[in-house]
Order: sequence, then structure tokens, then C-alpha cells
Amino acid sequence: KLADIGVTGLAVMGSNLARNFASKGFVTAVHNRTSAKTRALIEQHGGDGEFIASETTADFVASLAVPRKIIIMVKAGAPTDAVIDELSALLEPGDILVDGGNSQFLDTRRREETAREKGIHFVGSGISGGEEGALLGPSIMPGGSAQAYESLGPILEKISAHVDGVPCCTHVGTDGAGHFVKMIHNGIEYADMQLIAEAYQLLRTAAGLTPVEIADVFAEWNTGELESFLVEITAQVLRQVDAETGSPLVDVILDAAGQKGTGTWTVQTALNLGVPVSGIAEAVFARGLSSAAHQRAGAQKIGLPGPSSPWVVEDKDAFIEQVRLALYASKLVAYAQGFDVIAAGAKEYGWDIDNGAMARIWRGGCIIRAVFLNRITEAFDEDASLLSLLFAPYFTEVMTRAQDAWRAVVAGSALSGIATPGFSSSLAYYDGLRAERLPASVIQGQRDFFGAHTYKRVDKEGTFHTLWSGDKSEVEAS
Ligand code: 6PG
Repeated sequence: KLADIGVTGLAVMGSNLARNFASKGFVTAVHNRTSAKTRALIEQHGGDGEFIASETTADFVASLAVPRKIIIMVKAGAPTDAVIDELSALLEPGDILVDGGNSQFLDTRRREETAREKGIHFVGSGISGGEEGALLGPSIMPGGSAQAYESLGPILEKISAHVDGVPCCTHVGTDGAGHFVKMIHNGIEYADMQLIAEAYQLLRTAAGLTPVEIADVFAEWNTGELESFLVEITAQVLRQVDAETGSPLVDVILDAAGQKGTGTWTVQTALNLGVPVSGIAEAVFARGLSSAAHQRAGAQKIGLPGPSSPWVVEDKDAFIEQVRLALYASKLVAYAQGFDVIAAGAKEYGWDIDNGAMARIWRGGCIIRAVFLNRITEAFDEDASLLSLLFAPYFTEVMTRAQDAWRAVVAGSALSGIATPGFSSSLAYYDGLRAERLPASVIQGQRDFFGAHTYKRVDKEGTFHTLWSGDKSEVEAS
């Protein structure tokens, strides 16, 4: 008997994915660079389904039915390249090689091109949902050729999460499109986490709620329009008590956020594409600031001054509702910006990405899964060429309803010295987006003044320059 699918790289994500395949009835070939991990998987979970374990790469490849389908689950970067090289030498035209790690989409484009020359289908696939998702049903974002998806897709769809019977997996687009969309998913994840953290901070500092009380607030929010995995787990994190000190765990965890790079990639990519992605960028910057230990200690030491009076919230219930609305509105901005980057990336790299389908496969399995993704799907289904998610009637209504609260929260934070980079920058983006006139005309004037960079006029066609150091008359530039 030959295997339907193979997984190489059996760290937690890889072995959970292999178990998921096996438990769904696929004969699953497994392999790891050091065979102890392979043996451990079979010993502990061999009963999950049918596995074929191999110690060498050659045996592993030989254990697969043709066309072979192999999922690589190793560290992004050089380790992934090494495994691809080793496998490619043993594969035949028509075989399908899937990279399920968090690879940079430009690496995926390069790898796909090299594989294509050998007739091998290379599929860069985003897989979201952490360890549990990999085991029980992740959200899967495969790129690569449509032809590869024909035989690979049904297998991936079967092991993916399902919402209302619909799999959280679809063909995203060619070459690096899958990893591109996964990158944006992670950027949104960063923004979402930052916004939830800001909401926590406001409830703690301004309203004086305890972590457990805030957990109750989040649990309550999780029954409404903010229902999402991240809000749900935040409540659990906040309820946790440290066994050693008896303090809330959140008070003993060092307040320096780590990162593996996908949020930064999103921002770099957005910058290259010229798309404002302020919500996600602020989330990355906020992690950076949190980890700037020496500077933060220095600020404590010299006592950088803050406002004279703290924010003392009188009506806590009203405030909680304001923060909820500010969170929702800011979150929508982050999603809108994320989808803008997807649209710009699709244009730049020639991908045909269905935004509504992306929201659909994010409804389950992944870290940003949330009830309101249904609304995003509906919005794009209604109008695939929506200029901004915020223009969909459903979301415009949210903005109408949320904006007063959002403004009050941002203003209050500024006055009382609570840093809310996510809330504040999202609001600034929103106001910039809806402004009829922006002060960019001043910038154009400045650019023309010091560098003769020229400007356009509102009232006629053409490109103009003012003779700033001469008689200040205007000339038409060629
Ligand atoms: C997912 C996650 C996952 C990622 C972590 C870590 O979709 O399952 O995005 O892929 O590894 O979230 O990200 P940071 O370490 O950069 O926070």
C-alpha cells in the first residue's frame, strides 16, 4: 500500500498535521530528519490512523503514491530550502511539494519557479491555527498552480476546519499567493492582538477593573459582534492566576512582546506596494517598543513626565461600551487595510484573489477567526470590487454607530497618557480617508519649493511649478 500524502518535519505542527491526515482516513507517510521524532509519533499516536514511517528521505519518497504529495513542515528560510533540494532530487514531474511553513512569499515565488522548471508543482501554503488547529482543523491557504490544487485541494479541504459545512481552505492563487495571504492574516493577527491589549489596558487603568473583571467583560463581548478566538482566549489568559505568587499571571509575565517576523513582512510589503497599513504597522511598532528594555528603563529612571491627572472613569458600564466600540471600529480598519494590501499584491503579482473567499476561509481554524468575517464575505460577495471594506453598508453602519465612542476613547487616552497606538492610528486613518481635502496640498507645495518636484492643480490638467526663488509666478512643467 502506498501513502496518499506525506509529511516531513515532525515538530508539533508537522506531527499534528500528520495525525489529522491519518485520522481523516488518508494513508500518511511520515518522515523527520532525526528518526527519534518519527518513532515517537508512531508510538504515541500510531492508533490515529494508517501511517507509513520512513527513516530515510528516499524511503519516504518511495512510500508515496504517484503523483506524490508531500508537505514540508520545517523552519522557514534555509532549512526549508535544504529539504526542498533534497526532495526535488528524488521527485518526478507531476509530483506536488507543499511548503506549509510561514515562508516569505517572495521565497515561495522563487522556489515555485525553480520547481516548475523540473515539472514539479510547488505549493506554498499558509496554515493557521497553531498546534490545535493543525490537529483538529486549520485554516489552509494554498497557492501554486490550479492543476496542483485539483488533486491536492480535496485532501487539504478534508482536514481543514469547516464552518457551516464549508471548508476553510481554497485555492488562493498561483505561486506565492497562499503565503502572501497567510502573511496578511498574520499582520491582521498582530493588529487584532494589539487592539485587544489596548482595550485591556484602558479597562485596567482608566476604569480600574481587575484582570478577572476584564476577563468577564471580554467573555461578555465574546457573545456579541466581537465574538472571536482572540477575544475568547484573552479572557482565559486574564483569568489565569500564577501558582507561585498568587498574582494574576498577566502581572508576572514580562511585558515585552516577541515576534517571528510575519507582521514585519506585512508592513514591509505594504510599504513597497504603497498601501497604508497603519493599524498593522503600529502593532508591530508597539511590540518593538515593548521590547526596547533599555530605553523603557531609561525613561523610568529620568521620569519622563506624563499628564498631571489620571483618567478616572465615573460610569464604568458606559465606558466599557465605548471601549468595545473603539475596539470594533479599529479592528475593522485593520481588516480593511489588510484587504487593501491583498488587492495591491494581487495586482502587482498577477494573482486572481477572491477577497470574499479569503474571509470565508478565515471564519474557522485560524487565529483571527471571528464571527464578523461572515459580514466581510457578504460584503465582497455583494461587490467584489469594493474600494474599501469600510464602504460596505454593514461596516459603514458600524462606523456611524462607533465613532463617537471611538473619539472619546482616543481623546481620553491622549489626555491621560495611556498609549493606544492601535486605536489612535486607526481613527486617524479613518478621518484621513473620509476627509474631502487633505493637507497633502501643503506637502506638494513644500516639495515644489525645495526641489521643484511640481504639483497638479484641482482646476486644470497638467503639471505645474512655482518659481519660488524668482518672481513666484507659475509655469507649466513639461
Ligand atoms: C497562525 C499563527 C502562527 C504564528 C504565530 C506566531 O496563524 O497559526 O499566525 O502562524 O506562528 O502567531 O507569530 P509571532 O511569533 O510573530 O507573534
